[in-house]
Amino acid sequence: MPDLAGRVVLLTGAAGGLGADVALTFAAQGARVIAVDIDEPKIASLSARAAAIGQGAVQIERLDLSKPERVRSRVAELAGQYGAIDTVINNAAIYPSKPFEQYDFAEWEAVQRINVTAAVACVQAALPGMRRRGFGRIVNVSSITRSGGWANLAPYVASKGAMVTLTRAWAREFGPCGITANCIAPGAFPTDAERIHPDPEGYVRFVLDHQSIKRRGRPADIAAAMLFFASEAAGFITGQTLNVDGGWIMM
Ligand SMILES: NC(=O)c1ccc[n+]([C@@H]2O[C@H](COP(=O)([O-])OP(=O)(O)OC[C@H]3O[C@@H](n4cnc5c(N)ncnc54)[C@H](O)[C@@H]3O)[C@@H](O)[C@H]2O)c1
Repeated sequence: MPDLAGRVVLLTGAAGGLGADVALTFAAQGARVIAVDIDEPKIASLSARAAAIGQGAVQIERLDLSKPERVRSRVAELAGQYGAIDTVINNAAIYPSKPFEQYDFAEWEAVQRINVTAAVACVQAALPGMRRRGFGRIVNVSSITRSGGWANLAPYVASKGAMVTLTRAWAREFGPCGITANCIAPGAFPTDAERIHPDPEGYVRFVLDHQSIKRRGRPADIAAAMLFFASEAAGFITGQTLNVDGGWIMM
């Protein structure tokens, strides 16, 4: 396991189904985790879990990611307080589901704002410190839905495609400064994101039929991949998207 002692990690969507385990895993490796979320019950649960394992290194940051100007200024402030934020994990997302013609522009834009623009704001705010130190790790979160196969998720799928291409753009632009950008594309994990499916049992069968590995994904599977991308060991890997999906999408 990598030693992340002294590292400052900004994690969005940190109280969510995947994010909470990621926050606790990074904290257990010695990182100070700035855990950004807005959902009070989920924040309470993350705080309780962090306290139960004696993990004081998870700092809750209530920040509405739908407000990019505010996000950028607050993250810049936090970077100043900590000296620098050296790892940014853009994990938050919303995922409304309905037929394409029923989305209005406000809904379309809300998805892009939270799933993509918030990531832009966080990275812009963290960059000066990363550049100054000549070190940085950006980990974006996409989804295997970007490869097709899921209806009624068009704004979300478009936003997840953007995370893959932003990863490549950032990798090229920031590589000369020692900053890597990589992306994780989760498969189907049993979190809130899955509750949007009308037939849960049928969906589990569909998932296991498509995966090569015949068990459901666990948040720890995502946390492990993120830890790797955040580590020194991944220093020569950038611009890549890793499917963490039990061998579903192979490309
Ligand atoms: N669970 C899956 O099967 C799956 C599959 C593919 C991709 N993903 C991706 O993994 C990531 C995490 O997903 P998850 O399953 O943990 O989802 P989740 O809904 O459990 O977590 C998302 C978190 O983002 C937070 N969030 C949403 N809007 C916010 C806002 N305006 N301001 C601050 N926080 C906000 C939510 O409160 C929530 O805690 C997402 O990017 C998702 O697209 C998940």
